[in-house]
Amino acid sequence: MPNLYDLHGKSIVVTGGAKSIGRAITELLVASGATVRIWDANPAQVSGASSDVVDITDPVGIDAALSRLPAPEQPDILVNNAGYLGKTQSFVAHPSEDWQRILAVNLMGTMRVTQAVLPRMLRAGHGRIVNMASLAGKEGLATLAAYSAASAGVIAFTKALSRELAGRNIFVNCVAPGPIDTDMIRDLGTDAVNAMIADSPMKRLGAASEVAQLVAWLCTDASRFTPYSTCPAVEPGIERNSARNYAMARPDSNVGVCGTAFKCRKRRRPSYENVTYGRDPA
Ligand SMILES: NC(=O)c1ccc[n+]([C@@H]2O[C@H](COP(=O)([O-])OP(=O)(O)OC[C@H]3O[C@@H](n4cnc5c(N)ncnc54)[C@H](O)[C@@H]3O)[C@@H](O)[C@H]2O)c1
Repeated sequence: MPNLYDLHGKSIVVTGGAKSIGRAITELLVASGATVRIWDANPAQVSGASSDVVDITDPVGIDAALSRLPAPEQPDILVNNAGYLGKTQSFVAHPSEDWQRILAVNLMGTMRVTQAVLPRMLRAGHGRIVNMASLAGKEGLATLAAYSAASAGVIAFTKALSRELAGRNIFVNCVAPGPIDTDMIRDLGTDAVNAMIADSPMKRLGAASEVAQLVAWLCTDASRFTPYSTCPAVEPGIERNSARNYAMARPDSNVGVCGTAFKCRKRRRPSYENVTYGRDPA
């Protein structure tokens, strides 16, 4: 995908950047000129980026990684991408250690890293935070109750924090993708993947690089009138203002598929609250 952004001079931390969506985000940010540091529980090797092994559920490890950043006003931008899907099963039978880990990584990990980084952004007088939520957090998905709850928590956290910080020149946004072609989804098995594809208006899984495009845009000044949004990357439901801004900036993107979103709302997903469009439906 050819689109690049101008992120020269920006220092960015990407959690969970060792593979899949986080890796695609890191690669695009590096190609756009940013200095990127990956914080991942596993060792990461992405050309042009540096990395630390950090478990985002461990506050001591987060502080140690923060102290290794080259300057006290860094990072300019934080991408909270690290996530854990956990087991897919009925909640009544879900082992508590697993659903507690889902909350610990996806919700509390995002909050921990954000709280650690924020004093630096406040001192610097600017900042961007992009949180990774999920369609599960907007819709609630059966057999993924804990993951859905954690993701909904990330969305609410994003909304609340963005209200606190918009006046301080720190914007907090949230991307909530539908199913993306990564190990997290493929590990669910062929039947589950085929069901997701059948349920998708686009009739395919999204690509990690497509999510990366939206995240990168939210990192740039082009999104400077988007202090808060929840953008369902690839899934064509998106809140109105951010949809307009993004679709105008990227007319070639999936976010502009307003016709599909409209049909989807009418025929398939009448319960959507936030289905609006980058352009008005024909
Ligand atoms: N794949 C999808 O369809 C999809 C859809 C919606 C949202 N998401 C979200 O996007 C993000 C990335 O998903 P993915 O499919 O690339 O996942 P993935 O499982 O392929 O990669 C997750 C990355 O996060 C890292 N990680 C996990 N736990 C960590 C921890 N405690 N500390 C530090 N790093 C940790 C892993 O090592 C890995 O590198 C997640 O937050 C996920 O919930 C994914």
